[in-house]
Amino acid sequence: MTNDAPSVDDLRMNEEQDEKLTYFAFVQSLNAKPRTAVAASAPTKAGLEALPELLAGRYRIERLLGAGGMGVVYRARDLLIEQFGAPDPYIALKFLSEAFSESPDASALLYSEFALTRHLRHDNVVRLHSFEVDTEYQRAFITMELMRGLTLDRLLCERPLGLPWNELRGIVLPLLDALAYAHARGVTHGDMKPSNVMVSEEGVRVFDFGLGQAQEGVLRGLPRLSRDRFNAWTPGYAAPETLEGQPLATSADLYGVACVIYELAGGKHPFRRLPSTQARDERLERDLRAPAHLPKHCWPALRSALAFEAVERTTATQLRDALGATSTLRQRLRFWT
Ligand SMILES: Nc1ncnc2c1ncn2[C@@H]1O[C@H](COP(=O)(O)OP(=O)(O)OP(=O)(O)O)[C@@H](O)[C@H]1O
Ligand SMILES: [Mg+2]
Repeated sequence: MTNDAPSVDDLRMNEEQDEKLTYFAFVQSLNAKPRTAVAASAPTKAGLEALPELLAGRYRIERLLGAGGMGVVYRARDLLIEQFGAPDPYIALKFLSEAFSESPDASALLYSEFALTRHLRHDNVVRLHSFEVDTEYQRAFITMELMRGLTLDRLLCERPLGLPWNELRGIVLPLLDALAYAHARGVTHGDMKPSNVMVSEEGVRVFDFGLGQAQEGVLRGLPRLSRDRFNAWTPGYAAPETLEGQPLATSADLYGVACVIYELAGGKHPFRRLPSTQARDERLERDLRAPAHLPKHCWPALRSALAFEAVERTTATQLRDALGATSTLRQRLRFWT
């Protein structure tokens, strides 16, 4: 291994060689000495990696917060801002998991998540701070707000029968607001499912745009990455066209979010968490009934968001309006009586 950083020309040549792969140039510090790696104090889990005690000279890893199909997220303390008196120096750091980090475009994938999320400034979308590389450890990571709360999959474990509508609408309306906003800004989430939405102390937050994409003409400089190789979709929430390799479109998010809303409204996934392609082939939509806690007049909109055919699905705004109208109407009725 040499300590010479690659020249700009080398990098350009790489870009030209293969447009699908994006190479991330780690700026290696000269004469870098290997640091002592410590296992993050955390629930141990096979594959949980050894991390340096301090990242980028300022982030002290405290514990593991979660590990999904592609990423690992830790709670950390930002010692720099703490030193200047920040009252809450706690943040979250996201890395790609070791299996993915071997891929040549791993860092570009993480950067893409960062850029897509940063393009969105909405109360119900997680706030990201920075995209960084620890030059000695040679791994890229995202720093972001630390969400304190429950993901919807954990909420569903605690409330297996679902939530009554007066509680539920406080979750699904902000969730659909965030999604409609992202779509209006040209961003598709790509992985709508209960574990990617948090009910935090500061409200509902959509996060994990790791499989997301910008629509044509939005965030032009963003590397074009093929997500097919990662095959990281959760079959019970991914739309049939996604599982069949069609390009990602906003309608795919509607299928996923509709499954989430359905599940929250009655405790059961609409198609027993089967892959959507199997549910479609078995024609399970014929047995679909409105979930227990969903007001009757919300059902047509939710049902069409669950359509196996993308063109039949409602948009996020239409679904938001249909579900939001209920609460307004109810409020008015209460007021008049
Ligand atoms: N900012 C945060 N604050 C607190 N916890 C977080 C934060 N970001 C992620 N987590 C936790 O870490 C878990 C994994 O994060 P994330 O969904 O981003 O990773 P992933 O590997 O991309 O997931 P997936 O399996 O959906 O691909 C989340 O489900 C959540 O519990
Ligand atoms: Mg996730």
